[in-house]
Amino acid sequence: MKSVLVLYYSQSGQLGEILTNLVSPLYNDSNCSVTIHQIEPEEPYSFPWDKKEFLQVFPESYLQIPRPNKPIPDDIKNKKYDLIIFGYTVWYLSPSIPINSFLKGDDAKVLLNNTPLITVNGSRNMWVLTQEKIKRLLVDCKAELVGNIAFVDRHWNHVSVITIVHWMIGGKKTKYLGVFPKPGVSDKDINEAGKFGVIIKKHLFQKSFEHMQEELVNDGAVRIKPFLIRSDKSGNHIFSKWSAHIYKVGLKSPEKRVKWLNFFEYYLQFAIWVFVPIVFIIFLLTYLPFYARIKKDIKYYQSTRLR
Ligand SMILES: Cc1cc2nc3c(=O)[nH]c(=O)nc-3n(C[C@H](O)[C@H](O)[C@H](O)COP(=O)(O)O)c2cc1C
Repeated sequence: MKSVLVLYYSQSGQLGEILTNLVSPLYNDSNCSVTIHQIEPEEPYSFPWDKKEFLQVFPESYLQIPRPNKPIPDDIKNKKYDLIIFGYTVWYLSPSIPINSFLKGDDAKVLLNNTPLITVNGSRNMWVLTQEKIKRLLVDCKAELVGNIAFVDRHWNHVSVITIVHWMIGGKKTKYLGVFPKPGVSDKDINEAGKFGVIIKKHLFQKSFEHMQEELVNDGAVRIKPFLIRSDKSGNHIFSKWSAHIYKVGLKSPEKRVKWLNFFEYYLQFAIWVFVPIVFIIFLLTYLPFYARIKKDIKYYQSTRLR
């Protein structure tokens, strides 16, 4: 009998749905016991988001400052698992606060220690550097990262920016104005998530995860658009400055924090609609000279290695 634990945090339920489908081949196997547990912050984040709250979580998300979660129940915590499937979402190019808080807490040190783990992310599309942050936190927990699957919105980047705001602030995963595509991960990708569960199950019972990631990647588990790597890197550079400043100002004056968050919002709009297209043109112009480097980067971010 194999025992599998699915741990995740999801607000809208999208990631929960992805994971339920993904583990269905394991769930339906009588030789497998699957436990699913959702990480819960002590003070929940409201969904749909209030626009101000959406901005308020920026500094702490990016700086990876933890906030308390409810403890993992003892009956889940005190068991040893053959595999952990760890579902996370991205907030401001970093692990969402509940996920970061879990990985930095004592429960994770107990649960994840010396256990094979597969990360599954359900984000808009900019997750590659967040995965690097997750990898480092997993090293601290002595977890053994054996796989990664990324579920993203596959529409054009700027379209997904518009539609995700409609979803996060409005609360409904519907077509904005009736003309934009549905936000988030497509129904097709969500419905077909079980195909990855089949691969995972095979390796779980073979008692070796050695070539599992290659198989998952060949089946489309990690599709990377190279421009998004470049955007993620630039975004991290810029966010590190803004978040540190806003956090520091906020410690002395909550009013000034709000003021700076408003500046940040204007800056973000400028960056998305002016700066990113310029970087995109430069990226296209320099694509050929950097081709070998881009290929190498894609291979690396599709893997479970940590540089
Ligand atoms: C505050 C906030 C910031 C986000 N920042 C990012 C981001 O930087 N990159 C990204 O790909 N998705 C980002 N997202 C989208 C989430 O990763 C995720 O796809 C979405 O919140 C749905 O997740 P759910 O399963 O928790 O409902 C953000 C969402 C929120 C709420």
